[in-house]
Amino acid sequence: MTKYSSWIHYFRHNNWSTVQFEFRNVPTLSSEERDLLSASLQQFQLGEGSDGLGLLRRCRRFSGQNAHPDLPEAMLLFIREEQRHSAVLGHFLDQECIPRLRQHWVDQLFRKIRNLAGFELMLTVLVTAELIAIPYYTAIHNATSSIPLKLIAQRILRDEEQHLEFQALNLAHCAQQRSDFARFLTILAQLGALTCAAALVYSMHSSLFRKAALSPLRFWALAYDAHRPILHALTAARPSSNPAVEAYLR
Ligand SMILES: [Fe+2]
Ligand SMILES: [Fe+2]
Repeated sequence: MTKYSSWIHYFRHNNWSTVQFEFRNVPTLSSEERDLLSASLQQFQLGEGSDGLGLLRRCRRFSGQNAHPDLPEAMLLFIREEQRHSAVLGHFLDQECIPRLRQHWVDQLFRKIRNLAGFELMLTVLVTAELIAIPYYTAIHNATSSIPLKLIAQRILRDEEQHLEFQALNLAHCAQQRSDFARFLTILAQLGALTCAAALVYSMHSSLFRKAALSPLRFWALAYDAHRPILHALTAARPSSNPAVEAYLR
C-alpha cells in the first residue's frame, strides 16, 4: 500500500455528512455572539468552498511527472472534505439567518495568489490557510456557547490536523530533490507567509480572538505548532549534511 492509497482509504472513511449536526432551523447564537462571529464565519465559509480545479490540474501534472499515480484521487477526496467544511458552515449560517458571502477580498487575494502559482506554491498558500484555521476554530470553539457550532469547530479541527499531515507529505515530495539550504529557505518562506497571514486574520477579527482569550502571540504559537508535521516532513525529505541547518530545523 502506498502512502497515497492510505490517504485515499482515510478520506473515504472520514466521509461524514452535514446531516449529523441535526440543524433545527432555530438560531442558537445570542445577539452578542452573532455580532462577534458573523463576519469571520462568513469569510471562512466562503474560503473553505473552493472548487479546487486549479489545484487538481496542477496535482495531475505533478503526479505524472513524479510517479505518484494515487495522488490525484487523494487530492480530490481532500478537496471534497474542504467543501464539506464549507457546506456545514453554510448550513449553520442559514440556521442563524446570517447571509452567505459570494465574495470577499481576502478570499479573492488567496485565490489570485494560488492561481498564479505552480503546484508547490499553491499548496503553500493552501497550507497557510489551514494553519490559520487551527487557532481560528479553537477560538470559535472557546468563544461560543452554541452547541452545534462547538461541534462543527471540533469536527473541522480534527480534519484540519489530518490535512496538515497530508500536505506535509505533498510538500516533502515537492522538496525531495532540493538541497538542504533550499529546503531551509522553503521553511523560512512558509513561516514568513504564516506570520503575515496570522497578522492579517488576527487584526480583522481581533474582538473574537480576545473573547476566546487568544493573544496575538498565542494565536501565532498555535498555528506554528500545527506547522510541525510539515517541518518534520521537509527535514526528513532528504538526509541533511549541514549540521547548522539541522539544528535550526529541529
Ligand atoms: Fe477546512
Ligand atoms: Fe483543510
